[in-house]
Parts: sequence; structure tokens; C-alpha cells
Amino acid sequence: MKEKEIICGFSKLTKDQKLDYISNHFENPADFVEELKSFYHDDENKQKIIDEFSENTVSNFFFPYGISPNFVIDDKVYHVPMVIEESSVIAAASKAAKFWSDKGGFHTEIISTTKIGQVHFIWNGNVEKLKTLMPDLKDRLIESTQDITANMQKRGGGIIDIELVDKNADIPGYYQIKATFETVDSMGANFINSCLEEFAIELKAFFLKSPYFNDEERDCEVIMSILSNYTPDCVVKVWAECEIDKLGKIDEELTGEQFASKFEKAVQIAQVDTYRAATHNKGIFNGIDAVALATGNDFRAIEACGHAYASRTGKYTSLTDVKIENGKFRYTLTIPLALGTVGGLTGLHPLAKKSLELLGNPNAKELMRITASVGLANNFGAIKSLVTKGIQKGHMKMHLLNILNQFDATEIEKEKAKAHFEEEKVSYSAVDVFIKSLREPIVNKKIVYAGK
Ligand code: MEV
Repeated sequence: MKEKEIICGFSKLTKDQKLDYISNHFENPADFVEELKSFYHDDENKQKIIDEFSENTVSNFFFPYGISPNFVIDDKVYHVPMVIEESSVIAAASKAAKFWSDKGGFHTEIISTTKIGQVHFIWNGNVEKLKTLMPDLKDRLIESTQDITANMQKRGGGIIDIELVDKNADIPGYYQIKATFETVDSMGANFINSCLEEFAIELKAFFLKSPYFNDEERDCEVIMSILSNYTPDCVVKVWAECEIDKLGKIDEELTGEQFASKFEKAVQIAQVDTYRAATHNKGIFNGIDAVALATGNDFRAIEACGHAYASRTGKYTSLTDVKIENGKFRYTLTIPLALGTVGGLTGLHPLAKKSLELLGNPNAKELMRITASVGLANNFGAIKSLVTKGIQKGHMKMHLLNILNQFDATEIEKEKAKAHFEEEKVSYSAVDVFIKSLREPIVNKKIVYAGK
């Protein structure tokens, strides 16, 4: 086995050479290579597409691709594709979708769809003068990006606004060109970043050439030009509502009113307690990330934004809210979702394309509605379990197959275990004992029985 060392030029090696190099860090290099190659796609063209998504690719890392059926969203039925490795998430979403399907389903409203990009720069000059010159600068910035924005404008998007933000109070000389974009059906990161980099060039030229600045004011240091993943104005609201007595069927021990009240308390706790809020919101992102992944969207951007949005009042809080009024229970999620249905991986990943097809080739707004509904469904499922039978019972049942796989259980053993744990509490040690009991040599059992 090779000692770990710094390697130069790893990216220049072929895929086989990379694999070969890395394999030498394993006790059994041939075994490592065989294992990684066993995950290659049979179709070389498809494998090549996947290889080229990122860099230094040596294999594929499989995640399950599942379907959460029966989502009624704004009176339309969707069977939603989800990519997630965690057991019970898809089951919980499906169960919640079915529960709400005969109660009007999920209702949605797109609140806004714009995104933000910033050029951060340092400039030491007369800010009042700069403010009066802003209309001229704005025209120049827009003009400088005309080649980039032409296509987007044809699709109904483009640059919506450009403003100067004075951040001197935070860092001496710090300003931003803060631009608002509409990117229609694309997530728009490349479009926004390309515009911003043009803005930066034009901005520097403006300070250099404009007759209104004196020599001390000509120097503008552009620190960086980049979109913001915080999109508090690209927001969708989704809610589900029903008469409180319809909630009575959820749990044998609670009336509809008791369930609603306990549920409301659970949400209030997530609204006031950061420790709980993070877990509560994580449950929402279980669903949201899974749909984002299945449709080729950037789940890291969505998560970063969601958590920032959850802190927008200065205190991190729940993204969902519950209202109990006039005998009605209404559960709402309000969340920013910068999603795309064209561009990026959405059209490149063969399964992302199929996911979008399954959803009826939605536009970005429709995908926001669908994704937010799944987030609400997962959160509803989690809170419902937490305030009734607890999370572990259902979760561990779903997790049973994973534990059995850790024991290399055969199909027959799995069937026996599933039947056994129908009534028993699932835990790693309980499965261990059960599997051992199945695998005990029959002769020993006979001795035990004989001794009885
Ligand atoms: C587990 O992945 C997610 C939950 O912890 C969410 C929650 O507690 O609300 C069940």
C-alpha cells in the first residue's frame, strides 16, 4: 500500500490512470478498481456525459431515484421524482401527499421571482457625486451587457434594476453595485455572473474616464463580482388546509383538535428555539433537496438560501407556520426557491430530463410550486410522527433493509426479518440477534429443542 503523498498533475491523468494511482492506496488495488468499475454505466456515451459533469471522475456514486406519487397541487396530480439516500423520506412525503389529496391538496402562490447579483468594490471618493451619477452609470452598465442579455430579454427576462449600495459604515470605502435579475426558467447563475463581470469592467472604466471625478477618485478596486444565493425575492408559498375534525383520523389516541393543538405547539417550538428550528427545517429540505437533485438543480444553493431566509428577522426560525382558526387547520411553508427547468444539469443529466418529463415539463414557477409542496409534505409527515408515535418506529422500520444489508442478509432472511419486525421494535442489536438466531446451525437448535 502506497504512502499518501502530494501528487502533481493528477487532473492530467486519464481516468484509468487516476483510478490506478488511487488504487495503490488500498490494500487490494485490484479489488478497489473492480468495485469502482462495477458502477460504470454500460453505455459509454452516457458515462462520458456523467464523467464530464465535474472533474477527476473515477466512478459514479449511486443514490436511489424514487417516486412520491399522488401530489395534488393546485388541482393537478403529480408523481414526483426524488433522489435521496435517507430511508423514510420518500415514504413520509408519499403518505402526506395521499393524506392531503382528498382534502384539496396543496395550494400555492408565487410571491416573486427575481434574483440578485453584486459587484463588491472599494472606492474612496465623494459618495454624493456618485449617487447623482448613478442614472448615467446604470445606463452604461446595461449597455455593456447587451450581448449577454439579448436572448434572456427575448424569453421575458433580463436586468430589472441596478442600484448603488453604500456599505461604508461596515467597511471603509466599501460599495456594491446591486443588480436585480429575472432569469425566467433558468436558475440563471451563469447569466448573472457574466453580466456582473461585464459590469465590473464598465465600472472601472467609468471611474477612469468620467470627467466628473478628480484624480483621487479614479481608482476603483473591484473585489469580486458574483450572484447572491440569497434570493428573498424568489419566493413561493404553499399551504394545505382542512377542517380540524378531519385530522382526527391521523392518530387513534388524539382527537382532531388535540392533534392540531399538539402540532401547533411543535411548530411554535421551532419558531422560538434555534436548536429545534434547524432540525425542523432540515426535514423540509429532505424533500426539497431530493426534488432539486432529481431535476438537476443546485441543492446547495437552495439550502444556503433557505437557511439565510429562515434568519431574515435576525433570529433563525421555522420556515413553516400553522394557523388554527374557525375550525380550520392551515399549514403553510414560505420559502425562496431559485430553481431552473432549462440550462445547467436540467437538460444534461439523462434522469433530470426524465424527471422534468414526468412532471409534465414544468416551467420554473411550476417547479417551485411542486418542490415547495414536497417540502411541506415532508415537514408535515415529520411533525405528525413526532407528536404522535415518535419518529423512530416508522423510521427504523424503513431502515430495516439497510441494517439487514449490513449483515449481508439473503432474500429469505429479509422476508423473515420483515415479518418478525412487523410487531417488534427495530434496532441494530435486535436485528443482530434475530439474524444470528436464523443462522445458528440447525443442529444446535435441535439440541435446545431436545433438551426442552
Ligand atoms: C430526519 O431526517 C428529519 C426529522 O428529524 C425532521 C424533524 O425532526 O422535523 C424527522
